[in-house]
Amino acid sequence: MKILVLNGPNLNLLGTREPGIYGRETLAQIMQRLTEIAALQGMTLEAFQSNHEGELIDRIHQASHDNVAGLIFNPGAYTHTSVALRDAIAGVALPTVEVHLSNIHAREEFRQKSLIAPVSTGQICGFGALGYELALTALISHCRKEQPAT
Ligand code: DQA
Repeated sequence: MKILVLNGPNLNLLGTREPGIYGRETLAQIMQRLTEIAALQGMTLEAFQSNHEGELIDRIHQASHDNVAGLIFNPGAYTHTSVALRDAIAGVALPTVEVHLSNIHAREEFRQKSLIAPVSTGQICGFGALGYELALTALISHCRKEQPAT
């Protein structure tokens, strides 16, 4: 099974971006560890980061033709603004776990609303980079349950 991990705007700056909020690990380090954990579970992981809404939408569409079993998605600031990304997730109907490093519900009011959460399978936030690993565990379990028994 293949899982796609999507990261939105400014997440390429992880490691140096507001480390008190987002930690000191780079996105490459987080994705490397996640790829290794996925491999131990017999899963293939693809990672894609973009600062552009349209590129993220195109990648979500592509996933539905690409045999991707599910998505792990940190939409960054687009979480709070992008109807188009929400529609893309709803449109492909792939199981999706929304991830945020920070606890968006404990931050500024404008971050407390996610347009993505209502079309996601679930949301994990507030656990830093560990959130991606928790999301992977949750998504694999969800996808295995959905697979017809053989
Ligand atoms: C974030 C939270 C968003 O509000 C913010 O715009 C980000 C990162 C997080 O991972 O905590 O870019 O998605």
